[in-house]
Amino acid sequence: MTDTDIKKGLAGVVVDVTSVSKVNPETNSLLYRGYPVQELAATQPFEAVAYLLWNGDLPTDDQLAELRATERAHRALADNVKAAIDLLPLEAHPMDEVRTAVSVIGASDTSGSGSVLDAAGSPEENLERSVRLWAALPAIVAYGQRRRRGQELVAPRDDLDYAANFLWMTFGEESDEVVVDAFNRSMTLYAEHSFNASTFTARVITSTLSDLYSAVVGAIGALKGPLHGGANEAVLHIFDEIGTAENVKPWLDTALASKRKIMGFGHRVYKRGDSRVPTMKAALDTLIEHYDRPDVLDLYTTLENEFVSRKGIYPNLDYPSGPAYNLIGFDTLTFTPLFIASRVTGWTAHIAEQTASNALIRPLSEYVGPDERHIDGYVATEAEKAAAERPAEEG
Ligand code: COA
Repeated sequence: MTDTDIKKGLAGVVVDVTSVSKVNPETNSLLYRGYPVQELAATQPFEAVAYLLWNGDLPTDDQLAELRATERAHRALADNVKAAIDLLPLEAHPMDEVRTAVSVIGASDTSGSGSVLDAAGSPEENLERSVRLWAALPAIVAYGQRRRRGQELVAPRDDLDYAANFLWMTFGEESDEVVVDAFNRSMTLYAEHSFNASTFTARVITSTLSDLYSAVVGAIGALKGPLHGGANEAVLHIFDEIGTAENVKPWLDTALASKRKIMGFGHRVYKRGDSRVPTMKAALDTLIEHYDRPDVLDLYTTLENEFVSRKGIYPNLDYPSGPAYNLIGFDTLTFTPLFIASRVTGWTAHIAEQTASNALIRPLSEYVGPDERHIDGYVATEAEKAAAERPAEEG
């Protein structure tokens, strides 16, 4: 094996087929089950997009009503999940908080036989688990932010749809339509993106026939990193550092001279722009107008123009979503948990797909460590000698 045979970071490697979504870097397009994501974001409630990802088609009115009824029935923060969150220090990162909450939900789901041999669950069981987990996440994310602000839990509202209720539970007041709409769009845009690092993590865990919750917990761990989901949080840190548009040039001079990665720019797959950015930028524009914050637009545009002209690297979804979530009133630390609340739909769709056509994911590696060496005085047993001499095909 040569160095060129090794695909560091699995870059360019196609590891399986999927029918959940298609990312096309040539046309900068992203399709969920065949539908362009921008069309879904503009026309569908997030509940319908979740249904599409799980079931392969958009719901009929009755199917949407049924999903919404189930979602509403599982919105409230369970007492044991709240108690587990309350045990965590306020300084815990919200991603760790949500990861812990999902673990508690998983350990509390005793619907299976309890044997590891049945951990993977049936497709029907897993679809139910997916819907319940998706329904439970907004309360977890919302309560996390409220807890850090010293505020009480807000109970869900049955008369509000998913996005409006999410904002209600976070802020304890009804949000304006334009805000709900921008938030709903962001949920759709974050929902799915083929074999990204967190989805691949979920598929790796699923491939061992482990359970859905373990796969989601692992995916959350992968999403936390700033090279993946953590970038939307990191974008706001950068905005805070820069301050105003006049500071962009000197800030960028220093950042690039020290070879710093500018968060919210670049993508492993898209090299000529992220297909989701125009839709999220349009949603950000509506928020900028709604909150009358031209200064945000100024900083956003100046940094984008300056960075693209210097490096030829384009913004990814986290670039417009970071300031959008900030304007809505989410704390910076809450941004990546919002990503979880959305992406759990894509993860669980992939978990179902992996289960339906499973092969244990177990790549090879090229060993570059010390040559074989031995512990002084160790004498191999007869069984060890026989095993070492067995022809490879028998092993
Ligand atoms: N800021 C500065 N330089 C960047 C950059 C960024 N955001 N993204 C890529 N580059 C540069 C790299 O430094 C590298 O330059 P070099 O060839 O001179 O060393 C080159 O572009 C290729 O980058 P690389 O990291 O190898 O590309 P990748 O495909 O592995 O990386 C990302 C993709 C997403 C990890 C990378 O663009 C990045 O770190 N972006 C910032 C984090 C982010 O926004 N993540 C969210 C992704 S949706």
